[in-house]
Amino acid sequence: MLGNAEKNAILFVIAAVLLFLTGGLLTTLVPPLIDTSWGRPFENDDPAKGPTGKLRPYTEQELAGREIYNREGCWYCHTQQTRTLLADTKRSGWRGVDSPISTPDEFVYDAPHMFGTKRTGPDLSRVGGKYDSQWHLTHFRNPRDLVPGSIMPPFPWIADNPEEFEALVAYLQTLGRAKDWRPDQDYED
Ligand code: HEC
Repeated sequence: MLGNAEKNAILFVIAAVLLFLTGGLLTTLVPPLIDTSWGRPFENDDPAKGPTGKLRPYTEQELAGREIYNREGCWYCHTQQTRTLLADTKRSGWRGVDSPISTPDEFVYDAPHMFGTKRTGPDLSRVGGKYDSQWHLTHFRNPRDLVPGSIMPPFPWIADNPEEFEALVAYLQTLGRAKDWRPDQDYED
């Protein structure tokens, strides 16, 4: 029968679609069915790492900040995933401690997700707690004041709008915070 597929266009198309669907199902639907932990919020059950690490739903303010992140297209330039690459775990790391890689259970409350695809700017999956509000305020006013040569555009309409600024920073401070891995200093606001 398969020999005929070569000569029969309809059979060929059906065989190709079936093959494509099988690949699609195996790589998208089957893995989360096998490993159900993917759909559950991250919870740190390792006593050695402390009791605090847990993913919680976003507050209303954080959701408003997420909307702004989406609206302003921050995700054109920033990804939110620490990949399994040494360069990523070092870049997202903190004072010599490598950051953990991103896992699906860290994103269960993200709809739509903000993984992004293009790394014009650094990955933001572990930026929560890295800087305080004052730093973010100065950075949104003019990134060049803090990072000479930065190609990030200024966002003065956010910096000068306290409600939007606080919401956006509240959202940024949640990124990557479920996993407690930084050895020291962590900015809450
Ligand atoms: C045109 C691309 C571009 C856009 C759009 C952009 N950024 Fe950036 N961003 C960068 C670059 C490049 C850097 C690295 C230099 C710097 O820190 O200014 C950066 C750095 C950052 C940092 C510091 C990261 C770190 O680990 O030091 C934060 C936080 C940040 N951006 C947030 C945002 C937010 C929030 C938005 C949307 C309001 C945004 N960016 C939009 C390019 C961009």
